[in-house]
Amino acid sequence: MKTILVTGGSKGIGKSLVFQAASKDYKVIFTYNKSFKDAKKICNKLKDKCKALKIDLSKEKERNKIFSYLKKNKVKIDCLVNNAAYDVKRTKFDKLKLTEIKKVYEVNVFAIYDIIKKSIKFMKKKKTWNSIINMSSTAAKYGGKNFTHYAPTKAAIENLTIGLSRELVDKKIRVLSVSPGVISTKLQNIKNKNLINSIPQGRLGTADEVAKLILWLDTQDAEYVNGTNITISGGK
Ligand SMILES: NC(=O)c1ccc[n+]([C@@H]2O[C@H](COP(=O)([O-])OP(=O)(O)OC[C@H]3O[C@@H](n4cnc5c(N)ncnc54)[C@H](OP(=O)(O)O)[C@@H]3O)[C@@H](O)[C@H]2O)c1
Repeated sequence: MKTILVTGGSKGIGKSLVFQAASKDYKVIFTYNKSFKDAKKICNKLKDKCKALKIDLSKEKERNKIFSYLKKNKVKIDCLVNNAAYDVKRTKFDKLKLTEIKKVYEVNVFAIYDIIKKSIKFMKKKKTWNSIINMSSTAAKYGGKNFTHYAPTKAAIENLTIGLSRELVDKKIRVLSVSPGVISTKLQNIKNKNLINSIPQGRLGTADEVAKLILWLDTQDAEYVNGTNITISGGK
């Protein structure tokens, strides 16, 4: 049985990933922060296939609790998905405070560096590849009006993905990023017709579609897909 570690598994894409992974016979460890009730509901449904850890990813001490858990329970992982992202509000650049920008970077960038660094030694030693999948966004490429505290963090993660994939080949770990376009989750529950019309396929994506892509990237079939970003955006 494979083991997957998912950050931000209580809602949205992360939650879909937790359910889909469990249905594909993964043991799932996921983190959450504020959504205790959602995390509890997920665990009640999935029972011993899942373990939820309450972690505020903006704090290194809290992040270390993930690794204390893995060490204490002698858990080794096959796949790490850095899914969680800071819940940003669209804000004009001149209204953005440096403290807010730093908070976004702490969760969306520095926490990911830290978690990847510490996860490597908890990855299984095996003949097939392990994988690290980082959640980016199409905003990394296109930027974003009133999104200047968020979009560049995703560009940073995509670039980290490329360089790191070259370093981790020797450890048989593939590193990938996934860039969703507009996905129907709480973060992006948009009923803006102009936005929908700007998507060639004429609809928002679903969290399940993104989750399926992530799980495919962790399969043997995707063995030669490495150090790259995969966009899932309905053609936008
Ligand atoms: N939805 C979209 O349209 C879209 C588009 C492009 C990219 N993405 C990316 O896809 C990923 C998932 O997005 P989503 O829409 O599914 O988000 P979401 O529904 O808002 O869920 C975000 C998850 O991250 C967790 N989280 C946020 N801040 C945290 C913190 N400080 N510490 C620990 N956990 C924290 C939340 O946990 P709690 O609720 O428990 O606090 C939640 O589980 C993100 O990386 C996002 O940037 C999404």
